[in-house]
Amino acid sequence: MKNNEGGFTSSFGAIAAAAGSAIGLGNIWRFPYTAGANGGGAFLLLYIVFVFLIGVPIMMSELTIGRRSGQNAVGAFRVLSPRQRGWMLVGFWGVLTTFFIYSFYSVITGWTLDYVVLSCSGGLSGKTPEEVSAVFREFSSGSFWPIFYQIIFMAITVAVIMMGVQKGIEKSSKILMPVLFLLMVALCIRAVTLPGAGEGLSFLFKPDFSKVDGKAVLDALGQAMFSLSIGLGVLITYGSYVRKQDNLFRSSIIIASTDTLIAVMAGVAIFPAVFAFGQDPTSGPSLVYETLPNVFNSMPGGIAFSIAFFVLLSIAALTSTVSMLEAIVLFVMQEFKLKRVTAAVLCTLATLVLGILCTLSFGPLKEVTFLGKTIFDILDTLTATYMLPLGALAIVIFMGWFYPKKEVLDEVTNQHTLKAGFFKAYYFIMRYVAPVALLCVLVAGIVASFR
Ligand code: PFF
Repeated sequence: MKNNEGGFTSSFGAIAAAAGSAIGLGNIWRFPYTAGANGGGAFLLLYIVFVFLIGVPIMMSELTIGRRSGQNAVGAFRVLSPRQRGWMLVGFWGVLTTFFIYSFYSVITGWTLDYVVLSCSGGLSGKTPEEVSAVFREFSSGSFWPIFYQIIFMAITVAVIMMGVQKGIEKSSKILMPVLFLLMVALCIRAVTLPGAGEGLSFLFKPDFSKVDGKAVLDALGQAMFSLSIGLGVLITYGSYVRKQDNLFRSSIIIASTDTLIAVMAGVAIFPAVFAFGQDPTSGPSLVYETLPNVFNSMPGGIAFSIAFFVLLSIAALTSTVSMLEAIVLFVMQEFKLKRVTAAVLCTLATLVLGILCTLSFGPLKEVTFLGKTIFDILDTLTATYMLPLGALAIVIFMGWFYPKKEVLDEVTNQHTLKAGFFKAYYFIMRYVAPVALLCVLVAGIVASFR
């Protein structure tokens, strides 16, 4: 069924948009510090296994559900399962998860924009590490500036959405994704030609399996799902815009490979520099905002490197926020019969309210906690540890056990015009491997958080 929003006009457009959703702060901000905290190389290996073994089949399923139904995440289940309406809850769950993720994600996008400005104005250069940390802490714990930049970023996002699927989402992705890639290549070249870069590369690529524990396994699967934007129906939404003649299996492999390549390249751009200038690779979420500026300060051409890095991070974040907002907006448009512009404004205002609370949780609302977690941390943990795996599990069960196998085969082979050599493996993973893996992650996550 075709989505009456019009769809992507080419296979490249569809891949650029979905890769744009996948490639984001998750690759460049979250992946390096998560890999850093979990031992580098061994984590990378585990991550790659999860991306291709479990991530790709789920991605393909979401694109399939979207394209077959031509609907938003909720409407898709209504169309594909007209008798058992309960499946629509899976769609609602996804939209709610996306709403939460967009709210806390927008905080970091605001920081990123601020760092573009700081890099351009020299506000980070010539500072000692203590001063760099002070800049970050002072900024992030404030109210006016972080909210100001957060609003600007959300305004850019909603502007793209208002321009529609083809002129907004597809066109911006087709331009921004190649730019991002070129910037990333330049950053990698600069990083690996630094004296002492080898140590950083071996940290990233040399597997040390003694560092792999249950937590590393959990983090790797959680990171893979977050990074591929799966488990919440965003790719159902984009799937509804994909042309009937596109090869969903091939597209999923390309999207997941590009996403992984960019995460690895982010590691290549960051770790050699961190090691070359004696910084700590395991410094956690502040790696990009507190550690990297010191690296930029001590290297030749650091200012240009710094500007390029934060511009790249902003581009990556933008194509991701666009996909999140689109998933929420299409739901509101189709389910409540609203115009695109009206839905886009309403959804942005709603996310902004929660987003501002998340921003303030680094400053004035720092003391507002639940089980020791701030509002930002609650949303981050709630989505990554529970909501995403549960949403993914429901989607996997729907595809593997509920939706008729012959319908799935029909859609992924474009009505039997494509070869289906992959289908047996895909279906086996959807029925057995993915549900078991996701269930383990879910249970382990719940157990870990009550310890
Ligand atoms: N995949 C994005 C990233 O790696 O930054 C994050 C993301 C985008 C998560 C879209 C969820 C989503 F719906």
